Amino acid sequence: NTRLRVLSGIQPTADSFHLGNYLGALRQWVRLQDTHETFYCVVDLHAITVEQDPEVLRQRTRVSAAQLLALGVDPDRSTLFVQSQVPEHAQLSWVLECQTGFGEASRMTQFKDKAQKQGTDRASVGLFTYPVLQAADILLYQAHQVPVGEDQRQHLELSRNLAQRFNNRFGKTFVVPEAHIPKDTAKIYDLQDPTAKMSKSASAANGLIELLEDPKRSAKKIRSAVTDTGREVVYDPENKAGVANLLSIYSALTGRAISELETAYEGKGYGDLKKDLAEVLVEFVTPVQARVQSYLDDQAELDKVLAKGAERAREVASVTLANVYERIGF
Ligand code: ADP
Ligand code: NA
Repeated sequence: NTRLRVLSGIQPTADSFHLGNYLGALRQWVRLQDTHETFYCVVDLHAITVEQDPEVLRQRTRVSAAQLLALGVDPDRSTLFVQSQVPEHAQLSWVLECQTGFGEASRMTQFKDKAQKQGTDRASVGLFTYPVLQAADILLYQAHQVPVGEDQRQHLELSRNLAQRFNNRFGKTFVVPEAHIPKDTAKIYDLQDPTAKMSKSASAANGLIELLEDPKRSAKKIRSAVTDTGREVVYDPENKAGVANLLSIYSALTGRAISELETAYEGKGYGDLKKDLAEVLVEFVTPVQARVQSYLDDQAELDKVLAKGAERAREVASVTLANVYERIGF
């Protein structure tokens, strides 16, 4: 296979993925299958860096995998797996932790933010070493490219540094991964506060569109999205953040250019835009939800797909780990 290899993961930390996850990340996962050799995982090891309920985690892991399949991740073209089913992730992570400086890890801004929120006594060591596990995820598969958003740049930089450091010390072992920022990656904002990114931890649930919620509820959220006191439908993120957000969602879901949408809504108002977008959204999520349900209805088949994915992942991961162990003297 001469295609560049891509690895990406997503945490099973919510009952549903949201529209930001899809338009900002998962849609690109699906597209990359056409051009790259793709490895995608549900990163449940990462999910236990914060307190979890065992049954909820198990269910969210399944539902996450079902959503990836429903959105178009094709298990015949991608290696789709659950991280904890590939023990090499934890094994390589330990080796890399021993190559990571304490100060270096302490500088990770995401850890600092999260630890501050949780309090240093409650924040786990796992939360601290989270980015090293992420490096293990990437380096195990010799991934050339990692699709990342801006918020993940520092972590990817750590992965690169660890790969280079290990290669310099023990001989060429890892591909040094690069950030891949796919074109047309939309950043989606909260519908009630269009200056904040749409997030599962949104304070106002009305600002968040969950892929698995009742589509009628999503439609209502779109129709009551915060806009401004103007009426002209134009793309102006600085002065009309709410309308701009609706236009980017509309454009991303339909493939119609924003300029084309502006023209189409000339002489119409925000109400028309919201009403139409609500319909577009319902049309998008309804079949996705049906597919998710059919994957969840056939538990044995879903387990089989994931077991096969884990097996394929291990074929690659075990080769890397054996090489690493050999080089460090095990
Ligand atoms: P959340 O921010 O809701 O906690 P995650 O951090 O789990 O979501 O993000 C999973 C993926 O979805 C990441 O690749 C992230 O960059 C992307 N993502 C999350 N929220 C958005 C958003 N509002 N717009 C675009 N992409 C997003
Ligand atoms: Na996040």
